[in-house]
Amino acid sequence: MIYFAMSKGRLVEKSAALLKKCGVDVSVLLEDTRKLVLESPDKKFGFFLVKPADVPVYVESGVADLGIAGKDTLLEEDRDLYELLDLGIGKCRLCLAGPPERRSALTGPHLRVATKYVNTARRVFAERGEDVELIKLNGSVELAPVTGLSDVIFDVVETGSTLKANGLVVLEEVISGVSARLVANKVSLKLKSADILPLVEKLKEVIA
Ligand code: PRP
Repeated sequence: MIYFAMSKGRLVEKSAALLKKCGVDVSVLLEDTRKLVLESPDKKFGFFLVKPADVPVYVESGVADLGIAGKDTLLEEDRDLYELLDLGIGKCRLCLAGPPERRSALTGPHLRVATKYVNTARRVFAERGEDVELIKLNGSVELAPVTGLSDVIFDVVETGSTLKANGLVVLEEVISGVSARLVANKVSLKLKSADILPLVEKLKEVIA
C-alpha cells in the first residue's frame, strides 16, 4: 500500500481529481467524514488527512510515502524529502500586502510584518538586509493590518479576494510560482519504487 499525506482544505478536491485521472480510486476522499485515515476500496492507497503544514512532517518521517503540499509550506518547513513534481494546482504567490498607503512606505526599520510563514519571511528579509519585526499568526492574517496589529502581511495570494474584501492590496510579489508539489519520503522512493514511479509517470502525463 502507498500512504499519502493530503492537505485538508482547498487542495483536497483538486488533488483527488488529478489522482483519479491516474486511475487511483479516490472516492473515499470525497466523502463527508471526520475520519483521518482513509483507504481506497482496492486497498492500494491509504490517505492521511492532515493540516497543510503537517504534510512535510508525515512524509519526512516515512509515516507517509508520498504527500501533496503547497510550495509555500515546503519552503516554510524545509524538510528532508524529495520534491518530485509540480502538479500545477493551487497556484498562488507569496506577497507583501497591506493598506494602499503603504505603497510608498514599504521599507524602513521596525516594519511589523504578520505572517504564517515566519521562517520564509525571516530568510527573505535577511537576504535583503532589512530588519523587521515578524508577528507569527496561524490564519486570518489579513486581520492584522486592518486592526493595527501589524503594518503589512507576508502571505499567499491566490485570487486576491481576501485582500480586496479587507481593503488591502499587493505591495510586492516576493515569490511567484507557488503551487502544489508531489513529495516523497527518500526511503519509500527506493523501497516502493515499483509502485511509486508508475504513478509519477501517469501524473506527468495527466499534467502535460
Ligand atoms: C489563505 C491565505 C489568504 C487567502 C488567500 O488563507 O492566508 O488568507 O487564503 O486566498 P485568496 O487570494 O484567494 O483570497 P486560508 O484560506 O488558507 O485560511 P487561513 O486564513 O485560515 O489561513
